[in-house]
Amino acid sequence: MKKEKTWHEDDSFWETVNDVMFTRNRMDITPAEIDRVLNILRVEENAHILDLCCGVGRHSIELARRGYKITGIDRTRSYLDRAKQSAMEENLTNIEFIEADMRTFCSPDTFDAVINLYTSFGYFEDPEDDKRVLQNIHKSLRAGGNLLLEMMGKEVLARIFQRTRWHEEEDGTLILQESRVCEGFSWIENRWIIIKGGKRADFRVDHRLYSAKELTTLITECGFMGFEVYGDLERSPYDEKAKRLIVVAWK
Ligand SMILES: C[S@@+](CC[C@H](N)C(=O)[O-])C[C@H]1O[C@@H](n2cnc3c(N)ncnc32)[C@H](O)[C@@H]1O
Repeated sequence: MKKEKTWHEDDSFWETVNDVMFTRNRMDITPAEIDRVLNILRVEENAHILDLCCGVGRHSIELARRGYKITGIDRTRSYLDRAKQSAMEENLTNIEFIEADMRTFCSPDTFDAVINLYTSFGYFEDPEDDKRVLQNIHKSLRAGGNLLLEMMGKEVLARIFQRTRWHEEEDGTLILQESRVCEGFSWIENRWIIIKGGKRADFRVDHRLYSAKELTTLITECGFMGFEVYGDLERSPYDEKAKRLIVVAWK
């Protein structure tokens, strides 16, 4: 029997959330995010950086503008088309976008740094798949290379959790969300209802929840030599005021 596609393998999900995920505001804050990312990574001027799950390429493009050699990987073809178009419009030649699955993409000893931003990790029901992703990243880094992961951490979520919430985008799109933490606080089930122009779309957006300890244990098991944990991209401590879970690990 053919297995039903989960939300992250469903093109119609990514196409529907395109406008709500990559809003004008989110695109506008990208250069400031990259300032912080570079401040953490401290890569050489000619570094080769992998943007794993690059989406529409907002971070990839900004890094390429600053002269880095960039490879952007994503599974969603329409996002990659948009990313390629943006790179072409700016005549950026130091950038490539490849359609690939993070579970299988591996390019041994190629990158000086890997970034995985905006909760693009933990999508798979089988925890071994997350491990595979980190093992591939580890193999793909050169010796001394760095990984930066940025996501919603379990401790942060526990502090700010709301069972239901809604908001309205600038263009009037309504987003209604209902969440349930399950499997001993290791998984979150989210129901999203998106109402745009009188049309309604329903999605499930479920993913694994990592505490800082769980994520850094996994990272260590995957061969990384060391790590640091922060509560935002400004390198604030991961404490009771943390906004996000940031892990930087090195090979
Ligand atoms: C939340 S978006 C973040 C995009 C980008 N990092 C950003 O900050 O703008 C998650 C991205 O992961 C991609 N993705 C989901 N599953 C994937 C997989 N198995 N392999 C590669 N990319 C995947 C989606 O297509 C989407 O672009």
